[in-house]
Amino acid sequence: MLPNSIKQVLRQGAKSNVTVYGHVKSVRHSKNVGFADISDGSGKSMAAVFKDPSKFLEAYPLKVGQSIAAVGRVTESRGKGQEYELLMDSVKIIGDVPDSYPIQKKKINVQTLRSLPTLRHRTQTLASVLRLRSTLEARLSKFFVERDFIKVNPPVLTSSDCEGAGETFKVEKSSEFFEKDTYLTVSSQLHLEVLSQSLSRVWTLTPCFRAEMSHTNRHLSEFWMLEAEISFIDDVQQLTNFVESMIKSVVANDIPDLIDSRFDPKDREEISRRFELMRGQWNTITYSDAIDLIAKYMPGEANVVWGDSISTAHEKWLAGSHFKSPVFITDYPQEQKPFYMPKSKIFDESRPTVACFDLIIPEIGELVGGSLREWQLDPLKQEMLSRGMNIDDMQWYLSLRENGTVPHGGFGLGFERLVCYLSAMDNVKDVIPFPRVPESCTC
Ligand code: 4AD
Repeated sequence: MLPNSIKQVLRQGAKSNVTVYGHVKSVRHSKNVGFADISDGSGKSMAAVFKDPSKFLEAYPLKVGQSIAAVGRVTESRGKGQEYELLMDSVKIIGDVPDSYPIQKKKINVQTLRSLPTLRHRTQTLASVLRLRSTLEARLSKFFVERDFIKVNPPVLTSSDCEGAGETFKVEKSSEFFEKDTYLTVSSQLHLEVLSQSLSRVWTLTPCFRAEMSHTNRHLSEFWMLEAEISFIDDVQQLTNFVESMIKSVVANDIPDLIDSRFDPKDREEISRRFELMRGQWNTITYSDAIDLIAKYMPGEANVVWGDSISTAHEKWLAGSHFKSPVFITDYPQEQKPFYMPKSKIFDESRPTVACFDLIIPEIGELVGGSLREWQLDPLKQEMLSRGMNIDDMQWYLSLRENGTVPHGGFGLGFERLVCYLSAMDNVKDVIPFPRVPESCTC
Protein backbone atom coordinates (compact mmCIF):
# COMPACT_ATOMS: atom_id res chain seq x y z
CA MET A 1 0.00 0.00 0.00
CA LEU A 2 1.14 3.54 -0.68
CA PRO A 3 1.50 6.05 2.14
CA ASN A 4 -1.32 8.59 2.16
CA SER A 5 -0.67 11.92 0.45
CA ILE A 6 -1.37 15.03 2.50
CA LYS A 7 -4.51 15.56 0.45
CA GLN A 8 -5.71 12.08 1.42
CA VAL A 9 -4.84 12.63 5.08
CA LEU A 10 -6.85 15.86 5.06
CA ARG A 11 -9.77 14.12 3.37
CA GLN A 12 -9.83 11.51 6.16
CA GLY A 13 -10.22 14.26 8.78
CA ALA A 14 -9.59 13.88 12.53
CA LYS A 15 -7.63 10.73 13.33
CA SER A 16 -4.88 9.60 15.70
CA ASN A 17 -1.56 7.97 14.93
CA VAL A 18 -1.17 9.46 11.46
CA THR A 19 2.12 9.70 9.53
CA VAL A 20 2.50 12.66 7.21
CA TYR A 21 5.26 12.59 4.58
CA GLY A 22 6.55 15.70 2.85
CA HIS A 23 9.05 18.53 2.84
CA VAL A 24 9.32 21.20 5.52
CA LYS A 25 8.26 24.54 4.04
CA SER A 26 8.56 26.70 7.16
CA VAL A 27 9.29 26.40 10.86
CA ARG A 28 8.48 29.06 13.46
CA HIS A 29 7.84 29.07 17.15
CA SER A 30 7.05 31.14 20.20
CA LYS A 31 7.96 30.18 23.74
CA ASN A 32 5.23 27.59 24.22
CA VAL A 33 4.25 26.41 20.80
CA GLY A 34 5.83 25.78 17.40
CA PHE A 35 4.49 25.44 13.87
CA ALA A 36 5.80 23.74 10.75
CA ASP A 37 4.27 23.64 7.28
CA ILE A 38 4.67 20.32 5.53
CA SER A 39 4.02 19.98 1.82
CA ASP A 40 4.19 17.00 -0.53
CA GLY A 41 3.16 18.78 -3.73
CA SER A 42 -0.25 17.08 -3.78
CA GLY A 43 -1.95 20.45 -3.59
CA LYS A 44 -2.61 20.90 0.12
CA SER A 45 -0.06 21.46 2.86
CA MET A 46 -0.32 20.27 6.44
CA ALA A 47 0.00 22.70 9.32
CA ALA A 48 1.88 20.82 12.02
CA VAL A 49 1.91 22.02 15.63
CA PHE A 50 4.38 21.07 18.37
CA LYS A 51 4.51 21.88 22.06
CA ASP A 52 7.54 22.84 24.12
CA PRO A 53 9.52 24.06 21.09
CA SER A 54 12.99 24.17 22.63
CA LYS A 55 12.79 20.52 23.67
CA PHE A 56 11.04 19.42 20.48
CA LEU A 57 13.54 21.15 18.17
CA GLU A 58 16.46 19.74 20.16
CA ALA A 59 15.12 16.23 19.59
CA TYR A 60 14.05 16.94 16.01
CA PRO A 61 16.12 19.78 14.51
CA LEU A 62 13.65 20.79 11.79
CA LYS A 63 14.90 22.89 8.87
CA VAL A 64 13.24 24.22 5.75
CA GLY A 65 13.77 21.81 2.86
CA GLN A 66 14.18 18.58 4.83
CA SER A 67 12.05 15.61 3.85
CA ILE A 68 10.33 14.20 6.91
CA ALA A 69 7.80 11.70 8.23
CA ALA A 70 5.82 13.43 10.98
CA VAL A 71 3.75 11.31 13.36
CA GLY A 72 0.86 12.64 15.42
CA ARG A 73 -2.86 13.27 15.68
CA VAL A 74 -4.93 15.09 13.08
CA THR A 75 -7.46 17.39 14.75
CA GLU A 76 -9.71 20.22 13.75
CA SER A 77 -7.56 23.30 13.46
CA ARG A 78 -7.76 26.22 15.80
CA GLY A 79 -5.70 28.31 13.39
CA LYS A 80 -6.97 30.28 10.41
CA GLY A 81 -6.68 29.08 6.82
CA GLN A 82 -6.97 25.33 7.28
CA GLU A 83 -9.58 22.89 8.50
CA TYR A 84 -7.23 20.39 10.14
CA GLU A 85 -3.80 20.39 11.71
CA LEU A 86 -1.36 17.77 12.87
CA LEU A 87 -0.41 17.72 16.56
CA MET A 88 3.09 16.30 16.14
CA ASP A 89 4.47 13.77 18.63
CA SER A 90 7.63 12.84 16.78
CA VAL A 91 9.43 13.37 13.49
CA LYS A 92 11.75 11.26 11.41
CA ILE A 93 14.10 13.40 9.34
CA ILE A 94 14.43 11.39 6.14
CA GLY A 95 16.68 13.70 4.09
CA ASP A 96 18.58 16.61 5.64
CA VAL A 97 19.57 19.84 3.84
CA PRO A 98 22.60 22.15 4.03
CA ASP A 99 22.15 25.59 5.62
CA SER A 100 22.44 27.03 2.12
CA TYR A 101 19.20 25.33 0.96
CA PRO A 102 17.93 28.04 -1.38
CA ILE A 103 14.13 27.68 -1.34
CA GLN A 104 13.36 29.47 1.91
CA LYS A 105 10.00 30.82 2.99
CA LYS A 106 10.61 34.27 1.51
CA LYS A 107 9.44 34.84 -2.05
CA ILE A 108 12.01 34.10 -4.78
CA ASN A 109 11.42 35.50 -8.25
CA VAL A 110 10.87 33.08 -11.11
CA GLN A 111 14.03 34.18 -12.92
CA THR A 112 16.19 33.12 -9.95
CA LEU A 113 14.24 29.89 -9.69
CA ARG A 114 15.20 29.02 -13.28
CA SER A 115 18.77 28.62 -12.04
CA LEU A 116 17.52 25.91 -9.64
CA PRO A 117 16.07 23.38 -12.12
CA THR A 118 15.89 20.51 -9.60
CA LEU A 119 14.34 22.48 -6.76
CA ARG A 120 12.13 25.10 -8.30
CA HIS A 121 9.02 22.91 -8.37
CA ARG A 122 9.06 22.81 -4.58
CA THR A 123 7.68 26.35 -4.59
CA GLN A 124 3.93 26.66 -4.25
CA THR A 125 3.55 28.64 -7.46
CA LEU A 126 5.52 26.38 -9.79
CA ALA A 127 4.10 23.21 -8.24
CA SER A 128 0.59 24.59 -8.83
CA VAL A 129 1.47 25.23 -12.48
CA LEU A 130 2.47 21.58 -12.93
CA ARG A 131 -0.79 20.53 -11.29
CA LEU A 132 -2.60 22.88 -13.69
CA ARG A 133 -0.94 21.10 -16.66
CA SER A 134 -2.15 17.80 -15.29
CA THR A 135 -5.69 19.09 -14.64
CA LEU A 136 -5.94 20.63 -18.11
CA GLU A 137 -4.80 17.43 -19.74
CA ALA A 138 -7.42 15.46 -17.79
CA ARG A 139 -10.16 17.95 -18.74
CA LEU A 140 -9.09 17.88 -22.38
CA SER A 141 -9.07 14.07 -22.40
CA LYS A 142 -12.61 14.07 -21.05
CA PHE A 143 -13.69 16.58 -23.69
CA PHE A 144 -12.29 14.47 -26.52
CA VAL A 145 -13.54 11.13 -25.17
CA GLU A 146 -17.06 12.57 -24.92
CA ARG A 147 -16.90 13.46 -28.62
CA ASP A 148 -15.68 10.07 -29.83
CA PHE A 149 -12.12 11.16 -30.54
CA ILE A 150 -9.34 8.59 -30.42
CA LYS A 151 -6.07 9.62 -28.78
CA VAL A 152 -3.22 8.49 -31.02
CA ASN A 153 0.57 8.39 -30.75
CA PRO A 154 2.30 9.87 -33.79
CA PRO A 155 6.08 9.51 -34.19
CA VAL A 156 8.67 11.92 -32.85
CA LEU A 157 11.22 10.97 -35.52
CA THR A 158 10.11 11.94 -39.00
CA SER A 159 11.59 12.23 -42.43
CA SER A 160 9.39 15.15 -43.50
CA ASP A 161 9.37 18.74 -42.36
CA CYS A 162 5.63 19.32 -41.88
CA GLU A 163 5.50 23.10 -42.11
CA GLY A 164 8.30 23.38 -44.65
CA ALA A 165 9.79 26.05 -42.43
CA GLY A 166 13.26 24.51 -42.19
CA GLU A 167 13.46 24.97 -38.42
CA THR A 168 14.05 21.32 -37.65
CA PHE A 169 16.54 19.56 -35.40
CA LYS A 170 18.30 16.99 -37.55
CA VAL A 171 19.01 13.59 -36.00
CA GLU A 172 22.67 12.66 -36.10
CA LYS A 173 23.69 9.55 -38.10
CA SER A 174 20.08 8.97 -39.15
CA SER A 175 20.98 8.81 -42.84
CA GLU A 176 23.22 5.77 -42.14
CA PHE A 177 20.71 4.22 -39.76
CA PHE A 178 17.47 4.83 -41.65
CA GLU A 179 18.97 5.41 -45.10
CA LYS A 180 17.31 8.81 -44.88
CA ASP A 181 17.82 12.04 -43.03
CA THR A 182 15.41 12.30 -40.12
CA TYR A 183 14.33 15.13 -37.88
CA LEU A 184 12.56 15.69 -34.60
CA THR A 185 8.96 16.48 -35.47
CA VAL A 186 7.80 20.11 -35.66
CA SER A 187 4.13 19.06 -35.74
CA SER A 188 2.28 15.75 -35.89
CA GLN A 189 -0.24 17.08 -38.36
CA LEU A 190 0.68 15.02 -41.42
CA HIS A 191 0.64 11.77 -39.46
CA LEU A 192 -2.64 12.75 -37.81
CA GLU A 193 -4.09 13.33 -41.27
CA VAL A 194 -3.23 9.72 -42.10
CA LEU A 195 -4.81 8.42 -38.90
CA SER A 196 -7.91 10.58 -39.20
CA GLN A 197 -8.68 8.83 -42.46
CA SER A 198 -8.90 5.54 -40.59
CA LEU A 199 -10.36 6.70 -37.28
CA SER A 200 -12.29 9.85 -38.33
CA ARG A 201 -11.48 11.96 -35.26
CA VAL A 202 -8.05 11.86 -33.66
CA TRP A 203 -6.10 13.95 -31.20
CA THR A 204 -2.74 13.93 -29.49
CA LEU A 205 -0.61 15.90 -27.04
CA THR A 206 3.03 15.46 -27.90
CA PRO A 207 6.39 17.23 -27.77
CA CYS A 208 7.32 19.24 -30.85
CA PHE A 209 10.74 20.64 -31.60
CA ARG A 210 11.66 23.84 -33.38
CA ALA A 211 15.18 25.11 -33.90
CA GLU A 212 14.14 28.78 -34.06
CA MET A 213 16.53 31.25 -32.47
CA SER A 214 13.57 33.01 -30.82
CA HIS A 215 14.32 34.66 -27.51
CA THR A 216 10.78 35.55 -26.47
CA ASN A 217 8.59 34.75 -23.49
CA ARG A 218 6.35 32.49 -25.63
CA HIS A 219 8.79 30.33 -27.62
CA LEU A 220 10.43 27.09 -26.55
CA SER A 221 12.69 24.81 -28.59
CA GLU A 222 10.77 21.83 -27.19
CA PHE A 223 7.11 22.44 -26.49
CA TRP A 224 3.94 20.39 -26.22
CA MET A 225 1.33 20.73 -28.91
CA LEU A 226 -2.24 19.55 -28.68
CA GLU A 227 -3.33 18.59 -32.17
CA ALA A 228 -6.61 17.29 -33.54
CA GLU A 229 -7.61 16.17 -37.01
CA ILE A 230 -11.23 15.73 -38.04
CA SER A 231 -12.66 13.97 -41.10
CA PHE A 232 -15.72 14.92 -43.13
CA ILE A 233 -15.65 18.66 -42.47
CA ASP A 234 -15.44 21.35 -45.13
CA ASP A 235 -15.84 24.68 -43.34
CA VAL A 236 -13.36 26.60 -41.19
CA GLN A 237 -16.22 27.58 -38.91
CA GLN A 238 -16.67 23.93 -37.90
CA LEU A 239 -13.10 24.06 -36.62
CA THR A 240 -13.35 27.44 -34.87
CA ASN A 241 -16.60 26.42 -33.13
CA PHE A 242 -14.94 23.22 -32.00
CA VAL A 243 -11.84 25.01 -30.65
CA GLU A 244 -14.00 27.50 -28.78
CA SER A 245 -16.05 24.77 -27.10
CA MET A 246 -12.89 22.82 -26.28
CA ILE A 247 -11.24 25.75 -24.50
CA LYS A 248 -14.48 26.78 -22.81
CA SER A 249 -14.84 23.24 -21.47
CA VAL A 250 -11.45 23.38 -19.73
CA VAL A 251 -12.10 26.77 -18.12
CA ALA A 252 -15.71 26.02 -17.14
CA ASN A 253 -14.68 25.39 -13.54
CA ASP A 254 -12.15 27.41 -11.56
CA ILE A 255 -9.06 25.70 -10.17
CA PRO A 256 -8.95 26.88 -6.53
CA ASP A 257 -5.52 25.37 -5.87
CA LEU A 258 -4.03 27.48 -8.68
CA ILE A 259 -5.45 30.66 -7.19
CA ASP A 260 -4.54 29.76 -3.59
CA SER A 261 -0.92 29.08 -4.55
CA ARG A 262 -0.24 32.76 -5.19
CA PHE A 263 0.90 35.17 -2.48
CA ASP A 264 0.10 38.31 -4.40
CA PRO A 265 -3.63 39.19 -4.40
CA LYS A 266 -3.14 40.81 -7.83
CA ASP A 267 -2.07 37.43 -9.26
CA ARG A 268 -5.11 35.76 -7.74
CA GLU A 269 -7.44 38.34 -9.26
CA GLU A 270 -5.68 38.08 -12.61
CA ILE A 271 -6.11 34.29 -12.77
CA SER A 272 -9.85 34.61 -12.04
CA ARG A 273 -10.16 37.41 -14.59
CA ARG A 274 -8.51 35.32 -17.31
CA PHE A 275 -10.76 32.30 -16.68
CA GLU A 276 -13.75 34.64 -16.80
CA LEU A 277 -12.59 36.25 -20.05
CA MET A 278 -12.19 32.84 -21.68
CA ARG A 279 -15.76 31.95 -20.71
CA GLY A 280 -17.16 35.14 -22.27
CA GLN A 281 -17.93 36.14 -25.82
CA TRP A 282 -15.33 35.40 -28.53
CA ASN A 283 -14.93 37.18 -31.88
CA THR A 284 -14.10 36.13 -35.43
CA ILE A 285 -12.67 38.36 -38.17
CA THR A 286 -10.93 37.74 -41.47
CA TYR A 287 -7.26 38.57 -42.00
CA SER A 288 -8.36 41.41 -44.31
CA ASP A 289 -10.57 42.90 -41.57
CA ALA A 290 -7.75 42.51 -39.06
CA ILE A 291 -5.36 44.44 -41.32
CA ASP A 292 -7.96 47.20 -41.78
CA LEU A 293 -8.51 47.49 -38.03
CA ILE A 294 -4.79 47.60 -37.28
CA ALA A 295 -4.11 50.26 -39.93
CA LYS A 296 -7.07 52.35 -38.85
CA TYR A 297 -6.98 52.16 -35.07
CA MET A 298 -3.71 50.78 -33.74
CA PRO A 299 -1.44 53.67 -32.73
CA GLY A 300 1.59 54.04 -35.01
CA GLU A 301 0.50 51.28 -37.42
CA ALA A 302 -1.23 53.33 -40.15
CA ASN A 303 1.21 51.99 -42.77
CA VAL A 304 0.21 48.36 -42.39
CA VAL A 305 -1.19 47.02 -45.67
CA TRP A 306 -2.77 43.83 -47.01
CA GLY A 307 -0.07 41.18 -47.40
CA ASP A 308 1.88 42.23 -44.30
CA SER A 309 2.18 39.67 -41.57
CA ILE A 310 0.22 40.20 -38.39
CA SER A 311 2.90 40.56 -35.71
CA THR A 312 2.69 39.47 -32.08
CA ALA A 313 2.25 43.13 -31.11
CA HIS A 314 -0.68 43.37 -33.54
CA GLU A 315 -2.22 40.18 -32.12
CA LYS A 316 -1.90 41.40 -28.55
CA TRP A 317 -3.45 44.74 -29.49
CA LEU A 318 -6.36 43.13 -31.38
CA ALA A 319 -7.24 40.60 -28.65
CA GLY A 320 -6.09 42.57 -25.59
CA SER A 321 -7.02 46.19 -26.38
CA HIS A 322 -9.45 46.22 -29.28
CA PHE A 323 -11.76 43.22 -28.76
CA LYS A 324 -10.76 42.36 -25.18
CA SER A 325 -11.55 38.74 -25.99
CA PRO A 326 -10.13 35.72 -27.77
CA VAL A 327 -10.32 36.35 -31.52
CA PHE A 328 -10.25 33.95 -34.48
CA ILE A 329 -8.53 35.46 -37.49
CA THR A 330 -9.45 33.52 -40.64
CA ASP A 331 -8.44 33.44 -44.30
CA TYR A 332 -4.80 34.54 -44.32
CA PRO A 333 -2.92 35.26 -47.56
CA GLN A 334 -1.88 32.04 -49.24
CA GLU A 335 1.77 33.05 -49.41
CA GLN A 336 1.99 33.32 -45.60
CA LYS A 337 0.79 29.76 -45.03
CA PRO A 338 2.01 26.18 -45.69
CA PHE A 339 1.32 24.15 -48.83
CA TYR A 340 -1.52 21.98 -47.52
CA MET A 341 -4.15 24.69 -47.04
CA PRO A 342 -6.95 24.90 -49.66
CA LYS A 343 -8.28 28.13 -51.11
CA SER A 344 -10.76 30.14 -49.00
CA LYS A 345 -14.47 29.61 -49.69
CA ILE A 346 -14.72 33.17 -50.93
CA PHE A 347 -11.64 33.43 -53.12
CA ASP A 348 -10.35 36.59 -54.75
CA GLU A 349 -7.65 36.00 -57.41
CA SER A 350 -6.17 39.42 -56.76
CA ARG A 351 -5.81 38.69 -53.04
CA PRO A 352 -5.50 34.89 -52.77
CA THR A 353 -6.31 33.54 -49.31
CA VAL A 354 -6.57 30.08 -47.75
CA ALA A 355 -9.16 28.35 -45.52
CA CYS A 356 -7.38 28.66 -42.23
CA PHE A 357 -7.49 30.38 -38.84
CA ASP A 358 -5.32 31.48 -35.95
CA LEU A 359 -6.78 31.93 -32.50
CA ILE A 360 -5.22 34.91 -30.76
CA ILE A 361 -5.70 35.77 -27.09
CA PRO A 362 -4.77 38.77 -24.92
CA GLU A 363 -1.25 38.86 -23.37
CA ILE A 364 -0.05 35.89 -25.47
CA GLY A 365 -1.00 36.42 -29.11
CA GLU A 366 -1.28 33.23 -31.14
CA LEU A 367 -2.52 30.22 -29.21
CA VAL A 368 -3.90 27.95 -31.95
CA GLY A 369 -3.25 27.55 -35.66
CA GLY A 370 -5.44 25.40 -37.88
CA SER A 371 -6.99 24.93 -41.30
CA LEU A 372 -8.89 22.76 -43.67
CA ARG A 373 -6.51 20.54 -45.61
CA GLU A 374 -6.38 20.27 -49.40
CA TRP A 375 -7.93 16.82 -49.80
CA GLN A 376 -7.84 16.50 -53.58
CA LEU A 377 -4.74 15.22 -55.33
CA ASP A 378 -4.33 17.59 -58.26
CA PRO A 379 -4.49 20.97 -56.53
CA LEU A 380 -2.29 19.64 -53.68
CA LYS A 381 0.35 18.34 -56.09
CA GLN A 382 0.25 21.55 -58.08
CA GLU A 383 0.76 23.69 -54.99
CA MET A 384 3.68 21.54 -53.84
CA LEU A 385 5.34 21.74 -57.24
CA SER A 386 4.88 25.49 -57.40
CA ARG A 387 6.66 25.73 -54.03
CA GLY A 388 9.55 23.60 -55.32
CA MET A 389 8.82 20.71 -52.93
CA ASN A 390 10.10 17.20 -53.53
CA ILE A 391 7.00 15.23 -54.54
CA ASP A 392 8.75 11.83 -54.28
CA ASP A 393 9.56 12.32 -50.60
CA MET A 394 5.91 13.15 -49.91
CA GLN A 395 4.39 10.26 -51.87
CA TRP A 396 3.12 8.65 -48.66
CA TYR A 397 1.16 11.80 -47.85
CA LEU A 398 -0.11 12.28 -51.39
CA SER A 399 -1.26 8.66 -51.59
CA LEU A 400 -4.01 9.48 -49.07
CA ARG A 401 -5.62 11.62 -51.76
CA GLU A 402 -5.73 8.60 -54.10
CA ASN A 403 -7.26 6.10 -51.71
CA GLY A 404 -10.73 7.10 -50.62
CA THR A 405 -9.82 10.70 -49.87
CA VAL A 406 -11.92 12.64 -47.36
CA PRO A 407 -12.38 16.37 -46.75
CA HIS A 408 -10.82 17.13 -43.38
CA GLY A 409 -9.16 19.72 -41.19
CA GLY A 410 -7.48 20.23 -37.88
CA PHE A 411 -5.48 22.46 -35.60
CA GLY A 412 -2.58 22.69 -33.17
CA LEU A 413 -2.64 24.45 -29.80
CA GLY A 414 0.55 25.42 -27.97
CA PHE A 415 -0.03 23.79 -24.59
CA GLU A 416 2.51 25.95 -22.70
CA ARG A 417 0.88 29.11 -24.05
CA LEU A 418 -2.49 27.98 -22.70
CA VAL A 419 -0.97 27.06 -19.32
CA CYS A 420 0.94 30.36 -19.23
CA TYR A 421 -2.19 32.38 -19.90
CA LEU A 422 -4.42 30.57 -17.42
CA SER A 423 -1.81 30.65 -14.65
CA ALA A 424 -1.01 34.32 -15.30
CA MET A 425 2.70 33.52 -15.55
CA ASP A 426 4.83 35.79 -17.73
CA ASN A 427 7.03 33.25 -19.49
CA VAL A 428 6.46 29.81 -21.01
CA LYS A 429 9.81 28.76 -19.47
CA ASP A 430 8.08 28.70 -16.10
CA VAL A 431 5.19 26.46 -17.11
CA ILE A 432 7.18 23.51 -18.50
CA PRO A 433 9.19 21.42 -16.02
CA PHE A 434 12.50 21.52 -17.91
CA PRO A 435 12.54 24.33 -20.50
CA ARG A 436 14.69 23.97 -23.61
CA VAL A 437 15.47 27.28 -25.31
CA PRO A 438 18.37 28.51 -27.44
CA GLU A 439 21.65 28.19 -25.52
CA SER A 440 20.01 26.40 -22.60
CA CYS A 441 19.35 22.72 -22.00
CA THR A 442 20.68 22.35 -18.47
CA CYS A 443 19.67 18.94 -17.26
O1 4AD B 1 0.83 27.50 -35.91
P1 4AD B 1 1.68 26.26 -35.80
O2 4AD B 1 3.04 26.30 -36.35
O3 4AD B 1 0.79 25.11 -36.46
C1 4AD B 1 1.22 23.87 -36.82
O4 4AD B 1 2.30 23.39 -36.56
C2 4AD B 1 0.13 23.05 -37.46
N1 4AD B 1 0.76 22.02 -38.29
C3 4AD B 1 -0.73 22.46 -36.37
C4 4AD B 1 -1.90 21.68 -36.90
O5 4AD B 1 -2.69 22.22 -37.66
N2 4AD B 1 -2.00 20.42 -36.52
O6 4AD B 1 1.76 25.84 -34.27
C5 4AD B 1 0.60 25.61 -33.51
C6 4AD B 1 0.72 26.28 -32.16
C7 4AD B 1 0.93 27.80 -32.23
O7 4AD B 1 -0.30 28.44 -32.37
C8 4AD B 1 1.58 28.08 -30.89
O8 4AD B 1 0.61 28.19 -29.86
C9 4AD B 1 2.39 26.82 -30.64
O9 4AD B 1 1.88 25.81 -31.48
N3 4AD B 1 3.82 27.03 -30.92
C10 4AD B 1 4.77 27.14 -29.97
N4 4AD B 1 4.70 27.13 -28.64
C11 4AD B 1 5.86 27.28 -27.94
N5 4AD B 1 7.07 27.43 -28.53
C12 4AD B 1 7.19 27.44 -29.89
N6 4AD B 1 8.40 27.56 -30.46
C13 4AD B 1 5.99 27.31 -30.66
N7 4AD B 1 5.75 27.28 -31.99
C14 4AD B 1 4.42 27.11 -32.12
